[in-house]
Amino acid sequence: MHTIIAIDGPAASGKSSVARKLARTIGFSYVNSGSFYRTATWYMLVRGVDVQNAGAVATAVKAGQFRSGFENGESFFEVDGQRANITDDAVNRSVSAVARVPAVREVVNAHLHALAGVADSIVEGRDIGSAVFPETPYKFYIDASPEVRQQRRSAQGQADEVAARDKQDSSRATAPLTIPEGSTVVDSTHLSIDQVVDTIVSALEN
Ligand code: CDP
Repeated sequence: MHTIIAIDGPAASGKSSVARKLARTIGFSYVNSGSFYRTATWYMLVRGVDVQNAGAVATAVKAGQFRSGFENGESFFEVDGQRANITDDAVNRSVSAVARVPAVREVVNAHLHALAGVADSIVEGRDIGSAVFPETPYKFYIDASPEVRQQRRSAQGQADEVAARDKQDSSRATAPLTIPEGSTVVDSTHLSIDQVVDTIVSALEN
């Protein structure tokens, strides 16, 4: 397995921007696991699956042909040869319900492990340091106040209730959002993306 740097944190904490920039800065690939859960959710929605019905979601995810890989240093994830519209409002509303289903997490995790066999990667998500790659010594948890996170997401023009997603992601039975043991917590409330990246680079150098 290659070197994995895990970056976890709640919704709209700045993880994606930080992880992408950090990956470019240190020459790692970038894996956005949230986009995998979003793709699975999009797949459920286009097939008319009731996302509140965990059994139906589990059956549907097993029927999809999911494929992952790297393109220009970033992960992609597609289903039945299609790329999803992952920032759709409907996806924002349903993704936490789909992500709590263990069969969905198994599919995503198998792809994350396969990608980790291909390249040194920054892997970003909710359970990367706690459940997916608990053995990595490089774990970061990026937080920000709920108000700032909601402002950041709204500024992207998306209808996304981040507090509602955090509540669902933190309270689910399988791999809930949590601060992984041994992780470095970075509060980005008053920091720019570059400042968070610099903080992480300094921590990695020590
Ligand atoms: O865009 P944002 O950072 O708010 O979220 P995301 O990283 O795109 O993740 C979308 C959703 O996928 C989360 O709200 C979780 O429900 C789920 N997720 C997860 O369960 N485990 C992960 N490792 C990544 C995302």
